[in-house]
Amino acid sequence: MKDQLIDTYGRVHRDLRISVTDRCNFRCQYCMPEEGMEWTPREELLTFEEIERLASLLVNKFGIESIRLTGGEPTVRANLSKLIEKLAKLNVDLSLTTNGATLPLIAGELYDAGLDRINISLDTLDRKRFESLTRRDNLKQVLHGIETAKSVGFDPVKINMVVMKGVNDDEVLDFVSYGRENGLVVRFIEFMPLDADETWTESKVMPQNEILELISSKYDLEPLSRGSSPAARWKFVDGPGEIGIIATVSEAFCDACDRIRLTADGKFRNCLFAIQEYDVRKLLRENAGDEKIIELFSHAVKQKWAGHQIGKSVFIRPSKSMSQIGG
Ligand code: GTP
Ligand code: 5AD
Ligand code: SF4
Repeated sequence: MKDQLIDTYGRVHRDLRISVTDRCNFRCQYCMPEEGMEWTPREELLTFEEIERLASLLVNKFGIESIRLTGGEPTVRANLSKLIEKLAKLNVDLSLTTNGATLPLIAGELYDAGLDRINISLDTLDRKRFESLTRRDNLKQVLHGIETAKSVGFDPVKINMVVMKGVNDDEVLDFVSYGRENGLVVRFIEFMPLDADETWTESKVMPQNEILELISSKYDLEPLSRGSSPAARWKFVDGPGEIGIIATVSEAFCDACDRIRLTADGKFRNCLFAIQEYDVRKLLRENAGDEKIIELFSHAVKQKWAGHQIGKSVFIRPSKSMSQIGG
């Protein structure tokens, strides 16, 4: 029997997210300042060998079942498909979250390396708005990247749209049509207080009930089961396809959370909103044995809180932004 990464609330952790870089080819307003980002120096990033060692330990010792690679933008890390080849040998559900801009070039290579699933971030279908939100004129590449991901065989392809009031909330129904027409699972994400320039306020969040009410005004929806996934899901009654809503702010799903995270610089986090990190890289580079690393994972998971406190006075914003944590 494998050990379990279990916390004091009885939650068993089976889902690992690994950030492979904090760099990005975009500068999304809600994620990074336009200028002056200080990237983690190369030697401070976990090497592929270090990532492979940690992932193997977590899979073999603790029964981790899925691994998602994130960034920054994970595809800007050189030779990413080499890492995918290594991790694919662990026989877990292996997935990637990307902004999609490099996919026209590399989707096939990622698929061939053994990647199982891909999620693509896209917050607007309007070129000017895209340029203003991401500070890059790359909508065409991203749309092409989405098509390429589908055509090389990824299924499902999920689209992540962060809905921000007064910014892109008028596009929710356009995204539903875009998803239905192109065989994509669109997930609407409540804007979270992890934006780099700290402009988040609750008034900018379009809550799940409003998103659902809007979509239901045009389509008949039926709820689907959810498990430990952050996304609540609905299918269309009149045909194929589904949508999801990730309602971190209005309907926190922390009770069912099974996630742990490694940052690009080798820190272990027991929650997206954690304010404490555990230094795994230090252990690796002191040549610590597996037992010491296993001890760190078990200890760090036991310290996990019941849930985030967004919207309450006790909420403390993590000092890292989304790009540094990996979403
Ligand atoms: P699937 O396995 O395809 O369901 O992936 P996912 O939705 O878990 O991953 P993805 O990277 O596409 O993330 C979509 C959104 O969910 C992002 O905005 C993430 O920040 C958010 N998210 C991922 N994990 C967590 C989490 O543990 N807690 C919260 N609150 N949000 C999360
Ligand atoms: N709130 C919600 N989602 C965010 N993402 C990035 N920043 C935020 C935020 N402040 C999303 C990206 C990507 C995923 C990893 O996280 O759009 O889809
Ligand atoms: Fe890059 Fe993703 Fe951050 Fe946008 S949200 S700047 S695509 S890491």
